[in-house]
Amino acid sequence: MPLRRDLSVSSSLRAFLLLGATAIAQNATTINTLARDISRVESIREIKDITRSITHLAQFGRFDEISDLFSANGTLQWGNTTARGPLAIENWLRTEAGKMDGIQPGSLNTWVIENPVVSLSVDGRSAKARWNGLRFAGDGEGGTKIQGGIYENVYARTGKGWRIEFLGYNAMYEGPYVGGWRNVGGRGLPIIPYHFTADSSGIPIPPTVEEAPKTNVSVAMLETRIQRMNDEDEVRNLMHAHGFYVDRRMWPDVVDLHTTNTTVTIVGVANYTGLEGVRMALERMGPKGLTQGINNDHPIFDLIVEVGANGNTAIGRGLEIAMLGDATKRTASWEFNVLRYQFLKEGGIWKTQDVEITPLVVANYYKGWGEGGLRSPNTYIPPFLDATGLRSDAVKHETSSNATTSDLADLKRRLRRSAAYDGSENQSHAYGFVIDDLDCAAMGALFAKRGHKASPFAGYFITPERTAQACFASYGTNRSTLRNNISFHWRPQPVVLVSEDGRSATLRARLLQPSTSTTKAGSFNNAIYHDQMVLEDGKWRLWSVTIDEFYWQSSSWEGGWSDAKPRNSSAPNPEPASWIKRYPPDILMSDVGDRESTFRGGGGKFIDWPDIQRMWWQYRNPVSGRVPEYYWPGCVPCKVRPNWALEANGYQEPPTGPPLKNVDWKKGQVLFFTFNS
Ligand SMILES: *[C@@H]1O[C@H](CO)[C@@H](O)[C@H](O)[C@H]1NC(C)=O
Ligand SMILES: *[C@@H]1O[C@H](CO)[C@@H](O)[C@H](O)[C@H]1NC(C)=O
Ligand SMILES: *[C@@H]1O[C@H](CO)[C@@H](O)[C@H](O)[C@H]1NC(C)=O
Ligand SMILES: *[C@@H]1O[C@H](CO)[C@@H](O)[C@H](O)[C@H]1NC(C)=O
Ligand SMILES: *[C@@H]1O[C@H](CO)[C@@H](O)[C@H](O)[C@H]1NC(C)=O
Ligand SMILES: *[C@@H]1O[C@H](CO)[C@@H](O)[C@H](O)[C@H]1NC(C)=O
Ligand SMILES: *[C@@H]1O[C@H](CO)[C@@H](O)[C@H](O)[C@H]1NC(C)=O
Ligand SMILES: *[C@@H]1O[C@H](CO)[C@@H](O)[C@H](O)[C@H]1NC(C)=O
Ligand SMILES: *[C@@H]1O[C@H](CO)[C@@H](O)[C@H](O)[C@H]1NC(C)=O
Ligand SMILES: *[C@@H]1O[C@H](CO)[C@@H](O)[C@H](O)[C@H]1NC(C)=O
Ligand SMILES: *[C@@H]1O[C@H](CO)[C@@H](O)[C@H](O)[C@H]1NC(C)=O
Repeated sequence: MPLRRDLSVSSSLRAFLLLGATAIAQNATTINTLARDISRVESIREIKDITRSITHLAQFGRFDEISDLFSANGTLQWGNTTARGPLAIENWLRTEAGKMDGIQPGSLNTWVIENPVVSLSVDGRSAKARWNGLRFAGDGEGGTKIQGGIYENVYARTGKGWRIEFLGYNAMYEGPYVGGWRNVGGRGLPIIPYHFTADSSGIPIPPTVEEAPKTNVSVAMLETRIQRMNDEDEVRNLMHAHGFYVDRRMWPDVVDLHTTNTTVTIVGVANYTGLEGVRMALERMGPKGLTQGINNDHPIFDLIVEVGANGNTAIGRGLEIAMLGDATKRTASWEFNVLRYQFLKEGGIWKTQDVEITPLVVANYYKGWGEGGLRSPNTYIPPFLDATGLRSDAVKHETSSNATTSDLADLKRRLRRSAAYDGSENQSHAYGFVIDDLDCAAMGALFAKRGHKASPFAGYFITPERTAQACFASYGTNRSTLRNNISFHWRPQPVVLVSEDGRSATLRARLLQPSTSTTKAGSFNNAIYHDQMVLEDGKWRLWSVTIDEFYWQSSSWEGGWSDAKPRNSSAPNPEPASWIKRYPPDILMSDVGDRESTFRGGGGKFIDWPDIQRMWWQYRNPVSGRVPEYYWPGCVPCKVRPNWALEANGYQEPPTGPPLKNVDWKKGQVLFFTFNS
């Protein structure tokens, strides 16, 4: 502690010398506004983090700590039951979990709460958020439960920070492991009312009505808080990108993301050090690259990131639900793991320092986790991150400021870049929710005026109107409000690359598609989204949406993802979607060329699971800059329609990775990007 004090004195002195004189002369209104806007972006993040914390704590039966995430008046409403106040909530959670509490040996209590659309109130004191939920539970004695639904929650800013005021869970599907899940009540499912409209989504920070309150916070401190969020964005991207490379067994790319003295710990299994150690840890899964029938997906959910007070270390803690298998042998398994990674900033670039993977339950897909799975019960609890303290700690650590600027316009820009991360993510999930409900009009309204979307197996449509009409052409206009079946469009694990001016972004996300129906058990599919977003008239809008599908599919719940027979190689390609005859796209899939050629509707030889579909990337390796085998920066149809590109429409093309040196501009394709950091 004495050491920390000395440092703090010298660094605040340094900050004062650097900034004091100019800061005093700055327009106080601007500083007040900046301080308020920072706390609003921090608020959105704290709201997400306290919600994610529920999932971290539930895995270990920490029901008392979950109840602390609620306000004194907080209410939990779960279907037709209600608990009010932290004590009642704790008791409800404990009773409801029973032996599926994550404490009893062999039990599993993994909740996933993902795909947030967060709306802050104009006064910044309350918020609402919509989330998707899934729960995988078991008691180790044969009892199992899978549940899914939608949360519409309310949050309040209290004297202790953000807390949950109302957690409203709308159950949509449930069932045991054996036999699988169906719609709750065996009935058609209603639309769960939305707290937002297509028009309101994507407003990064709602405009305020009052003047910003006076602040005493120094410009140096404001810079520190902005930098902390910029760093958090990079660390999230790094950990999510790490996961995507693992899925494809791109071992050199995974290794590139590590520091030279890195460590990998698979708790209770093995420890590795150094870059060769990383490679050895990876080879446990198999050799580099995917061959026919291999599914190596390790989706990451509910990632919370804490950036250290010194600004060059960070911790990421998240949940992993691996869906693994070899369809050529009809083997498949589940792994429920906790990921806790430590990161280090070296030479301005975040790298992976220590990986800790804690396997909770590993189970054969065809047997399930009811009996506790294949391993002896885990006894280690990876330390939690205190989401209720993450942002307020940043405020307390004023002394650790590494401020370098007094340029308020530049600070605003840097804040806009972090607000862009949240705004893009918001719009990504808003899209997922409205497409689940096949609300074609709302879906179209999420697009920019010159935005475009790939309709699966068909082609691209430009403008909100045509995008909506294509959706109607494909799904019909006369749909019942009670749905017999739903395919959910989860878009977890985003990698969001924001432009230097904070007005455009590239977003890659997983499509994880759980389905449900009244009559047959639901199952999962997997695909990848390649999107771009822009800030248009003060709102984030979708600029470009492409879905590459599918990388794997489950034939049924019983069969899972490893029940797939290779296609007859001389069979003809499947036809493009038939509705395009009624409503032709602006660009057919087959017009896009090599990029789409192996997908349905593309011009080349169709590839279908269990054969390995090509996976495309919009970005280079975030640490080494390594260019992936299938690299496609910019919007997917932009090579055939250069005037659909961001840069042709007054937006910057976001960086595709670390600065490249001595690289040519490819014709019509932005590869080169420098930024001054
Ligand atoms: C600060 O800037 C605002 C807006 O530009 C202006 O209205 C105000 O008069 C300025 N205040 C001072 C003290 O210069
Ligand atoms: C608790 O709830 C009551 C009634 O809904 C409300 O009037 C009161 O303001 C709430 N208190 C807090 C601290 O939120
Ligand atoms: C609550 O809902 C469950 C499941 O839908 C039902 O079995 C139960 O009877 C309901 N309880 C009450 C008190 O309505
Ligand atoms: C997300 O969308 C909501 C929905 O209307 C909007 O109120 C909110 O400001 C948006 N949040 C972000 C971070 O863009
Ligand atoms: C600002 O500083 C003054 C003098 O130190 C103090 O009286 C006041 O409470 C402070 N205001 C805030 C918002 O911290
Ligand atoms: C690894 O290297 C970094 C910097 O190169 C250093 O800060 C860190 O202490 C080293 N860690 C170990 C475990 O040696
Ligand atoms: C890994 O290292 C930890 C200490 O760092 C040790 O307790 C554990 O036994 C090691 N595990 C294996 C499998 O070697
Ligand atoms: C910030 O300053 C502290 C104290 O001077 C130093 O230890 C730390 O390395 C600096 N962080 C960065 C990112 O430069
Ligand atoms: C719409 O669906 C309802 C019920 O499925 C049906 O009765 C009605 O005729 C349909 N309307 C049109 C215009 O197709
Ligand atoms: C889902 O429901 C729609 C409308 O009722 C129906 O047309 C479609 O065949 C169903 N799909 C499945 C897979 O059951
Ligand atoms: C494969 O497809 C070709 C062309 O449709 C057909 O002639 C052949 O019988 C099929 N082979 C098998 C094993 O189904």
